[in-house]
Amino acid sequence: MSKPQAEGIVHIDDVRFKVTEWRFAPGAETGWHVHGHDYVVVPLTDGTLGLDNAGGTAQTAALTQGVPYSRREGVNHNVTNAGTAPLAFLEIEAVAEASALRRREVLERFMAAWNARDLDALMACMATECAFNAAAGPEAEGHHVSGHDGVRAAYATVFDTFPEAAWTAGTHHVFGDTGLSEWRFTGTDKAGQRVDVHGCDIFRFEGDLIALKDTYRKARSA
Ligand code: NI
Repeated sequence: MSKPQAEGIVHIDDVRFKVTEWRFAPGAETGWHVHGHDYVVVPLTDGTLGLDNAGGTAQTAALTQGVPYSRREGVNHNVTNAGTAPLAFLEIEAVAEASALRRREVLERFMAAWNARDLDALMACMATECAFNAAAGPEAEGHHVSGHDGVRAAYATVFDTFPEAAWTAGTHHVFGDTGLSEWRFTGTDKAGQRVDVHGCDIFRFEGDLIALKDTYRKARSA
């Protein structure tokens, strides 16, 4: 006879943490799972866990209400309530690192799309509600454009202004909801004027996508 399933209730699921409350009837199990993140367990009750590990070993662990413990990502096990009373704990997964990695990948795809002059690929990196502050313009923020269609048109204008353009030596960093890409921009504008300057984008993320691209370029003087 198969064991009853532990019940998982997700309390928080954002870019920094996933917090799940696990409730186990006596004999209930989670089923086999691999932890994709470092995590902390906070027992909500006393109890005894039965742990079947991927290597074929098994052990029991005493839970004490309110006494937390932490584990590394990669743990591969099946967890059972080995006691005779219901038990529960909170599992707090540190998902921020995974989120930062996904966002960094978006910045890499975004720069590749600029070099490929691929508008669809560029816009696939942008959030539904998005904005672009161009490097040059009449406003303090350069030239501010908002909305998916407006941003797409502004990106098309960059390609139009620079029939030849390359963004090279890209480095990408993510800190919380902020991203930073540094690059060297080389190109030739429609008038045949050569540009070769360092610059950067400061990004704001919404989920894994770019909500704001704020562009800065060096202004060369003779
Ligand atoms: Ni587990």
